[in-house]
Amino acid sequence: MTHSFAVPRSVEWKETAITILNQQKLPDVTEYLELTTKEDVFDAIVTLKVRGAPAIGITAAFGLALAAKDIDIKQYLNSSRPTAINLSWALERLSHSIENAISVNEAKTNLVHEAIQIQVEDEETCRMIGQNALQLFKKGDRIMTICNAGSIATSRYGTALAPFYLAKQKDLGLHIYACETRPVLQGSRLTAWELMQGGIDVTLITDSMAAHTMKEKQISAVIVGADRIAKNGDTANKIGTYGLAILANAFDIPFFVAAPLSTFDTKVKSGADIPIEERDPEEVRQISGVRTAPTDVPVFNPAFDITPHDLISGIITEKGIMTGSYEEEIEQLFRGEKVH
Ligand code: MRU
Repeated sequence: MTHSFAVPRSVEWKETAITILNQQKLPDVTEYLELTTKEDVFDAIVTLKVRGAPAIGITAAFGLALAAKDIDIKQYLNSSRPTAINLSWALERLSHSIENAISVNEAKTNLVHEAIQIQVEDEETCRMIGQNALQLFKKGDRIMTICNAGSIATSRYGTALAPFYLAKQKDLGLHIYACETRPVLQGSRLTAWELMQGGIDVTLITDSMAAHTMKEKQISAVIVGADRIAKNGDTANKIGTYGLAILANAFDIPFFVAAPLSTFDTKVKSGADIPIEERDPEEVRQISGVRTAPTDVPVFNPAFDITPHDLISGIITEKGIMTGSYEEEIEQLFRGEKVH
């Protein structure tokens, strides 16, 4: 069965260029950019023109395919953003795809095929995450999310937002509360826009309204994406996620993480070992280019935080839902065994 919904694709391979939806300009301007050089790709990732862990991985993979003769750019692209593990995961897959290539042409073909394959697989992966998550919600539920873990952050459907698209097709009628997600407003600029494009009921709140909204609107669950999940289930996601997890626990509201297997980093034991990106202080001193703070005020601007595994009620993957004994269940998952 095909599930179509009216949200544009964020990344497209065009043989001599990568076309991306410029997420920096949304929601006011729907602009597509052509990336033709490694510098274009690096800049698009660093400046969040393309963002969201899976979409970053897909773009970098196409970037490597674009500059096939210059395989050294793997390190360069990998250094564009440090937290989302999907980036190095995708670049590693591309490296493996050319191990047995006997000519430059074959290597180039393999790289392009592998990058396309990653994008195609991601769509099915996200659809499966949505399918698995659907059982957690019932008609009329009010669900909170942060940042944008949606269709434009992936190949299609998204991770945390995937069940909302599938629920709509089943007429389940979920209502979404989107946190605006300061400093760069992925929640208000992207999630609110994306869900409205997809015809899904969404209400926008500022991040500071989360506790009051959970209580007053009887939020049924919180669901978020992830940039990297450690061996023990500790999860790095957009700054503010940890706070929502603490609030959800205080109100006894289930708190779910939705992510593909490509977001797990079984090499890191716990969240303490996950690198947290710190970004330009200007993102905090300004809102959409308008200064809102003294010019030189010192700023702390971590882009992500770590939610400890014991605050997470379930981690939803394309292979099933894990609920609590994360270390064991993650091992099971990577052995190819089924989880719930
Ligand atoms: O800084 P961003 O916008 O790239 O942060 C994105 C997130 O935190 C997402 O929740 C995560 O990458 C998952 S996207 C499916």
